[in-house]
Amino acid sequence: MVIILLGAPGAGKGTQAKRIMQEYRIPQISTGDILRAEVEAQSDLGKLVKSIMEQGQLVSDDIMIQIIEKRIQQPDCRKGFILDGFPRTIPQAQALEELIQKRDSGRLKVIEISVPDEEIIKRISNRRVCRVCGKDYNRLFHPPPPDNRCEVCGGDVIQRSDDTEETVRKRLAEYRNKTAALVDYYEKKNRLYRVNGLQSIDQVFRDIQTILERNGP
Ligand code: AP5
Repeated sequence: MVIILLGAPGAGKGTQAKRIMQEYRIPQISTGDILRAEVEAQSDLGKLVKSIMEQGQLVSDDIMIQIIEKRIQQPDCRKGFILDGFPRTIPQAQALEELIQKRDSGRLKVIEISVPDEEIIKRISNRRVCRVCGKDYNRLFHPPPPDNRCEVCGGDVIQRSDDTEETVRKRLAEYRNKTAALVDYYEKKNRLYRVNGLQSIDQVFRDIQTILERNGP
């Protein structure tokens, strides 16, 4: 099973990818998390992408395709994987197609989680994350502890540097200009499913389960 979660920033891709990973025992591949780990480690790649990410722009296709090519060759991806944040452009989607052709590309399902912009801005500007373990908090319904120490690992709970309202608006524009075309792209290939992301996290997950457990493309 190869699952692509498509959706604007803050639509709930990461939240749902973690639920799918637990339920179906296939890894979540979050390109955003991979890049943030490189930034945190101050690697050459991290130094290259830091300001691009902070400005809410997309990292180049070449870099992203190389990252994915390497990651999906890992043994834990043999039974399938969940792509959270990739592909984000048509060239990335075409490259992915070639990469999974050797495997069973017939098992690909693309799930678009749709949420209106104003709700996205509300969600993202209230999101906080642990910089050590990545645990997600949200001031609206699961606020971080008062001392901003993660309840799981004790790490610092912070706001992502690209989660300010100004940058979120830029990320939304990037989504519309470069990523939204993938909805059409996968619809034409008969791979696309849509889920209403305005529902509760549990209900969104139930809808995704129905899609994943349905036979056919
Ligand atoms: P990335 O980390 O992928 O960011 P994103 O796509 O902008 O997605 P987010 O992580 O912000 O949101 P999400 O949809 O996962 O929502 P979440 O579940 O967290 O990418 C960051 C940057 O890296 C990019 O801007 C780019 O620079 C670069 N990059 C990454 N991949 C790239 C690629 N392929 N090509 C080029 N550049 C790339 O939910 C958000 C909040 O809402 C949370 O607080 C959550 O608790 C809450 N929430 C979730 N679901 C619900 C619900 N149903 N109801 C209420 N609240 C909810």
